[in-house]
Amino acid sequence: MKRRSFIATGLGALATPAFLRGAFAAEPGAQLPIPDVWDLSDGAKADLVALAGRTGFLAGRESPTIGYSQSYLGPVLRIERGTIARPRLRNDLEIPVTAHWHGLHVSGAVDGGPQLAVTPGKDWSPELEIDQPEATLWYHSHIHEMTGPQVYFGLAGMMLVTDPDARGDPLPSDWGVDDIPLIIQDRAFDGDGRLSYSAAGPNGMMGFRGAQILVNGAIRPNASVARGLVRLRILNGSNARIYHLAFEDGRRFQKIASDAGYLTAPMEADRLTIAPAERVELLVDFSDGISARLVSAPDTNAPMMGGGMMGRMMGGTDPEGVDGTGRFEVLTFSPDRPPSDTALPTTLPVGPGRIEGDPIRRRVFDLNMHGPGGMMGGGGMGGMRRGGRMGMALAINGQPYDMNRIDAEVREGDVEIWEVRSDMMQHPFHVHGTSFEVLTANGGEVDFASTGLKDVALVDQSMEIKVRFDRPALEATPYMLHCHILEHEDAGMMAQLVVKG
Ligand code: C2O
Ligand code: CU
Ligand code: CU
Repeated sequence: MKRRSFIATGLGALATPAFLRGAFAAEPGAQLPIPDVWDLSDGAKADLVALAGRTGFLAGRESPTIGYSQSYLGPVLRIERGTIARPRLRNDLEIPVTAHWHGLHVSGAVDGGPQLAVTPGKDWSPELEIDQPEATLWYHSHIHEMTGPQVYFGLAGMMLVTDPDARGDPLPSDWGVDDIPLIIQDRAFDGDGRLSYSAAGPNGMMGFRGAQILVNGAIRPNASVARGLVRLRILNGSNARIYHLAFEDGRRFQKIASDAGYLTAPMEADRLTIAPAERVELLVDFSDGISARLVSAPDTNAPMMGGGMMGRMMGGTDPEGVDGTGRFEVLTFSPDRPPSDTALPTTLPVGPGRIEGDPIRRRVFDLNMHGPGGMMGGGGMGGMRRGGRMGMALAINGQPYDMNRIDAEVREGDVEIWEVRSDMMQHPFHVHGTSFEVLTANGGEVDFASTGLKDVALVDQSMEIKVRFDRPALEATPYMLHCHILEHEDAGMMAQLVVKG
């Protein structure tokens, strides 16, 4: 089998994965790279190697990058419900890394959080017991204070949970033809075509944003897809940017799945918001054969200060618009491949449903951007010393992240209501080890983006979620709760949770 022999070559920087053979489009509009799928469902061994490479994002120029078994990003890992997946991570880099299985319901001991750092030259072989509905997940490195740069330079990939008993009407399933993975990221380049990154100064507050939009590692590529019904698995793999996606021609689509799996029925819409780390799956009808452009409205998420947003002060981080409204291109689709005859499903495969059971406890998590001293440097020099970020103190419930402190303890199987509150801007709140249901947003109804079970949800001002943990996470390897704006996470907007039986 092609993939097997690829794994057998031992990888390293010497092997050239198919994903890279002329695959990275060095010009806007070049072909969308389709990552290889590694099937771990039959207990197959899969060696992920964190390695350093060079990637040509811009024509004729290369950037140092890092990836899992390839120079940038990683293969798509397919794992099957009811089996044990046995990935192995080897670290060929000179920095500690992890592979955190974002969205996977596994115990804290194998979830790849910061405590599970793999030091240079070492490896890690977790056993992952897969038991959750079909869903599109992802994996990424999760080293404290380094998650932002490590994901930015490439340590991330998509993951698919499949379920042989999922049933439902058939969905498009021809990988790269009518079943299309889309990892959307924004990046910035210096004059030599190298990725540039900094979490200093305002980037620490805003979150890092770049003016170039990449999909699967290529700048604003073109996807050649089937002239029919196409499934898009969209992952916002950006550090901080929120996308407000729509087709430029206004074409409608069906949302069929959220972070944790299928909805009970398709929901039709013509736009959607996707925050960092969120996934959404859509069905789009391209049977008209007409090329279509996916665009995004600008991301206006920025700290409110002195009555205004600081975002517009920053400049230079917004992609070039396609029209006068500031909308920018993400990628284009050319429906030029023969269609399969998949019809719009009326019955979706069994999804995660809702969180059952009566809540027995209520907790509040305040996502703080300023300390008790007050707004933005209101703490004076004290504030400066505390946060080091223009008086900011990024924290949860007033406590910046501390790897040696457990912030909350939950009992396995208990159903809880958590109220999550945002400070100064919107924060995508993520919980490890489980999925949750959003009950209310800003005291009212939940919007389109937060329907279906989630593992990350964008908190505007406040949000109530219903959550339950079914796997343990003990003190040595607790679960993380954090803002998924990676610069916020790295600066301390993260807490630790243990789950006990
Ligand atoms: Cu996707 Cu704790 O992260
Ligand atoms: Cu996670
Ligand atoms: Cu945040």
